Amino acid sequence: MTAQVAETAAPTAPAPHPAVAALPVAGDEVLVGGVPLTRLAARVGSTPFFAYDRQRITDRVAEVRTALGDAVRLGYAVKANPMPAVVQHLSGLVDALDVASAHEMHTALDTDTDPERISFAGPGKTPQEIRSAVAAGVLVELESATEARRVVAAGEELGIVPRVAIRVNPDFAVRGSGMRMSGGPQQFGVDAEQVPDLLAWLGTAGADVTGFHVFAGSQNLDAELIAGAQRATADLVVALAEHAPGPVRYVNLGGGLGIPYFPKDRPVDLARVGESLATVVAEQIAPALPEADVHIELGRYLVGEAGTYVTRVVDRKVSRGRTYLVVDGGMHHQLAASGNLGQVIRRNYPVLVGNRMAAAETEQATVVGCLCTPLDLLADDVPLPRADLDDLVVVLQAGAYGLTASPTAFLGHPAPAEVLV
Ligand SMILES: Cc1ncc(COP(=O)(O)O)c(C=O)c1O
Repeated sequence: MTAQVAETAAPTAPAPHPAVAALPVAGDEVLVGGVPLTRLAARVGSTPFFAYDRQRITDRVAEVRTALGDAVRLGYAVKANPMPAVVQHLSGLVDALDVASAHEMHTALDTDTDPERISFAGPGKTPQEIRSAVAAGVLVELESATEARRVVAAGEELGIVPRVAIRVNPDFAVRGSGMRMSGGPQQFGVDAEQVPDLLAWLGTAGADVTGFHVFAGSQNLDAELIAGAQRATADLVVALAEHAPGPVRYVNLGGGLGIPYFPKDRPVDLARVGESLATVVAEQIAPALPEADVHIELGRYLVGEAGTYVTRVVDRKVSRGRTYLVVDGGMHHQLAASGNLGQVIRRNYPVLVGNRMAAAETEQATVVGCLCTPLDLLADDVPLPRADLDDLVVVLQAGAYGLTASPTAFLGHPAPAEVLV
């Protein structure tokens, strides 16, 4: 009897992605930064474009601050979204900026952030980049002994005592990261077992060794795994501090908090991360390293959900029963949504028709970009309101690793605009 009821019941519509459900809507239109989407498109003047919601970034920082309390300083990893207006906005909200290239460093230096609050991490820093960082007074996070020698040489040449921290590749890996960046052999950081020798050399070479940085991985949604990594990192840092030439003043525990991209993803339990960090600081770090400022640095978590990528339908066609919406953007701007930025199994980012939010009827549609490759797929066979030419198809969760993580020159289409609204 029960089975019969189940068989004849009307199929229930899949629950909308939490990111879609959370979006403000007025009538038919999604609001971005409080502005109806078609109005925003008119204001920008061209499609496609990325729009970043200033208030959502502000709110996200406030949530993180509440969860972290006063014991931990918050940095922004500029690589997640280096748009100068976004970096400027965040510079007023966070305690530090983390950069990964000379270009990002110059963007950060153009804000009103004190250079002392800018750190430069990442492998393959050239002698010129290191010289610029030392001249600027930025903290250089050393990824190798070669970088250490370059920093010391730049300091001698410029007559400056360079400020450094060692980025450590720990002897453990962290599970749950979409992208793992520590443990085992790595191009990132100095292997933990090599750190004591490097510290000894830096001490004699006259660098100002402030402390340590460990970045375990990106896009982790599991608060318990994040907490475990932070505990293990704190133990490691406290052990390495015994070899430091002076008191440790800087401990950067990384971050890697993820955001929900796919229907089964659940938002990270921020309160739990904050609670566990407070314990790590109070019980592990502060007693052993009383002068240390503890930092975490977040990129994606601060900006990812505040960004939308807005495209326009330029063609609509049915091929052997499948409906295609061809838009004027694509993987050359938003590579991650096409599934080609390191995903093993391609899944759909949340996508909607931003000017047809009140439509009751949906159809199955496949959204493709304007590049001549089957890789240029923005949404594969998803339920959407029936969209026509000129409608606006929006990809959500596009605020981090979007435009600057995409092959913009591929096929020579124009670059999209970016706006902070
Ligand atoms: C050293 C470092 N810090 C911060 C980040 C930012 O990570 P996320 O955007 O996941 O917060 C990365 C990402 O690769 C990184 O390599």
